[in-house]
Amino acid sequence: MRIQFLMGSQGIRGPSYRFIYGNTKEISSMREKSMGGPMELSHHIFPRLQPHLHSWFKLYGMIFLQWHGATAELVVTDPEFVKEILNNRERYYPKPEADVFTKKITGDGLLASKGEKWTKLRKLANHAFHAESLKSMIPAMIESAEVMLEGWKKYEGKEIEVHEEFRMLTSEVISRTAFGSSYLEGEDIFQMLRKLSLIAGRNDYNIRLPGISRIFKSSDDKESDKLEKHIRDSFLEIIRKRQKSMNEEGSNGMDFLGLLLKAGVDTQEISVEGIIDECKTFYAAGHGTTTLLLSWAILLLAINTDWQEKARQEVLKVLGCGRPNSEGISRLKLMGMIISETLRLYPPAVALTRKVQREVRLQNLILPANMNLNIPALALHHDSKIWGEDAHLFKPERFSEGVAKATNNRPSAYIPFGLGPRACVGSSFAIDEVKIVLAMILQRYAFTLSPNYIHSPIQVIAIRPKHGVQVALHAL
Ligand code: HEM
Repeated sequence: MRIQFLMGSQGIRGPSYRFIYGNTKEISSMREKSMGGPMELSHHIFPRLQPHLHSWFKLYGMIFLQWHGATAELVVTDPEFVKEILNNRERYYPKPEADVFTKKITGDGLLASKGEKWTKLRKLANHAFHAESLKSMIPAMIESAEVMLEGWKKYEGKEIEVHEEFRMLTSEVISRTAFGSSYLEGEDIFQMLRKLSLIAGRNDYNIRLPGISRIFKSSDDKESDKLEKHIRDSFLEIIRKRQKSMNEEGSNGMDFLGLLLKAGVDTQEISVEGIIDECKTFYAAGHGTTTLLLSWAILLLAINTDWQEKARQEVLKVLGCGRPNSEGISRLKLMGMIISETLRLYPPAVALTRKVQREVRLQNLILPANMNLNIPALALHHDSKIWGEDAHLFKPERFSEGVAKATNNRPSAYIPFGLGPRACVGSSFAIDEVKIVLAMILQRYAFTLSPNYIHSPIQVIAIRPKHGVQVALHAL
């Protein structure tokens, strides 16, 4: 009541708080209805994936108050507000506590940690992903793509479902580059992390009553406890193996795990538990997102064959039929525009959240402590006031002169990788990987949308193609 009154007195309205659940029941039922079946083949996906925001923007304006259980959540879409929140270095707006299931996926690794711990982890991660380290990861990306494409030979002239292919590919890439271990060693971990994220996804709008959920464990609680333990044990095994080979060979390897172990040994900056959390974070943050970017890019290129051909001509001009290299992929400008437009229309991270640490002034508003802030990236990316009336169309040319021009000088309206100090640490890694894989596909194949493809984007944490992405593959 106090928060509703306080925000109301500043002109901020929203759906009323309902006892225990806040607005989560309404949200779930609207989402169930809108995402129930397939949709026509268009990219106008915002009303389907976030029907509550779509209708509440109309009713209450572009900044409004909603309730996740008893937590007030201010939905903020003004690019100036977004810039101020995400760029804040005084830590007025930390990340909110993750829910119980998400915590099991990322632990207290870089994605979730705060304060000094985050500063230390971020330094380590920046070091692991700086330009020179990225260069050394390119051969592993190419090798994994080659293995995938070898398998595609049996689909020539036929249909292939690429989403599953990319899921295996990106897992292998992250396994090899971050942990030096083979895909097979990481396979089990991926399966378990995938199960955990499905559980987190289906509990996204479930409100947990603190006392009761500690006594009565749901089947999801029990299953996720088991998965968490197995994941921990598997990572421990990988870490022990590496420690052993480090002791025997005296080398820690150039990959992320090697770096973490070295930091642990040299400076005691990170414990084994900390290393496990970092491993989980990189597996979880680094592969689902990249899989989705690749899948949606292939869908868009299968529909827009003119752009597919332009991208192919660019690849052949810059790389010929040879292997991609770091200098070559940095010159794939059209491909960069296609990737930017894919991330605009189908951003894997649909929203960013922050918390108000203590009472603070944000632009013209006074926000009370402990309120959450919700920045809906998908809504910003589809806003016709920013992108024009053609906001729902695939038009990579809007990025030909960079993000500032594409957004009419409101670059904070385009946030597929976040913004500010907590922006994605793996963005260059992901873009390099996607450019390499797309280039290698375009060198070998043309593809068109299969008649069996069903356009049914759903949002379970990220935006996913419910029935996969099927294309017809034609060898060149
Ligand atoms: C297309 C691919 C990707 C997308 C769209 C993406 C998106 C994002 C976004 C939006 C954030 C910011 C979250 C926030 O501010 O609340 C983020 C953070 C992060 N991402 Fe990514 N990501 C991608 C790939 C990767 C990869 C490949 C890795 C690692 C290998 C990675 C690791 C991380 C980590 C560790 C953070 C947390 C950084 C911090 O809090 O300091 N991401 N990502």
